Amino acid sequence: MEKLKKMVAREALKYIEDGMIVGLGTGSTTAHFIQLLGKLVMEEELEIYGIPTSYQAKLLALESGIPIIDLDEADAIDVAIDGADEVDPDLNLIKGRGAALTMEKIIDYRAGTFIVLVDESKLVDYLGQKMPVPIEVIPAAWRVIKEELEVFNATAELRIAKNKDGPVVTENGNFILDAKFERIEDPLDIEIELNNIPGVVENGIFADIADIVLVGTKEGVKKLER
Ligand code: A5P
Repeated sequence: MEKLKKMVAREALKYIEDGMIVGLGTGSTTAHFIQLLGKLVMEEELEIYGIPTSYQAKLLALESGIPIIDLDEADAIDVAIDGADEVDPDLNLIKGRGAALTMEKIIDYRAGTFIVLVDESKLVDYLGQKMPVPIEVIPAAWRVIKEELEVFNATAELRIAKNKDGPVVTENGNFILDAKFERIEDPLDIEIELNNIPGVVENGIFADIADIVLVGTKEGVKKLER
């Protein structure tokens, strides 16, 4: 699996040009990309700036020698490279296993080209097939939102931290509800409706925003385009 992730990460480098501002995604697949990009920047003395979607991306970028800037310092983001937890046949995504979905959505949405890096295990027939939808919520509202999600026939669990007692606290100071849907028929509608619930900060459905999905398979990299 790591081999496939590295393979798509390497392929993504082909979309990077000197002078670009690059959105740096979160997760194990994008981590390979950030390291490879760092090497490229150093070797070819490129003038590239990264905008990280999380502390993970920021630390890796610094370690890899990629100069970083804040989102509010950039006039435009040329390209964003990010991972995903599920990709449906229309290239709608579920993201947020790493709890970075809010910043990821802001940056991926703003990018001139949004490129997704996955291995073939992430391809699904419909969203919600394997993974829950992570929803970032204001801490005080987690319980009312969990109840509200029953309207969608979704069962939500508060995400509990592994190396900390109690819930996961996001980089924005919020909680995460992981909502298991039976089948998400219309991702764009559900994405909008979830964000309409008071107390929801953002949800992990990324409908209609991926331009290119690079899929790592045993036969090589497959390019899917919208
Ligand atoms: C981070 O919050 C997520 O959206 C990740 O981008 C997503 O979970 C993909 O991660 P992997 O590349 O580690 O599977």
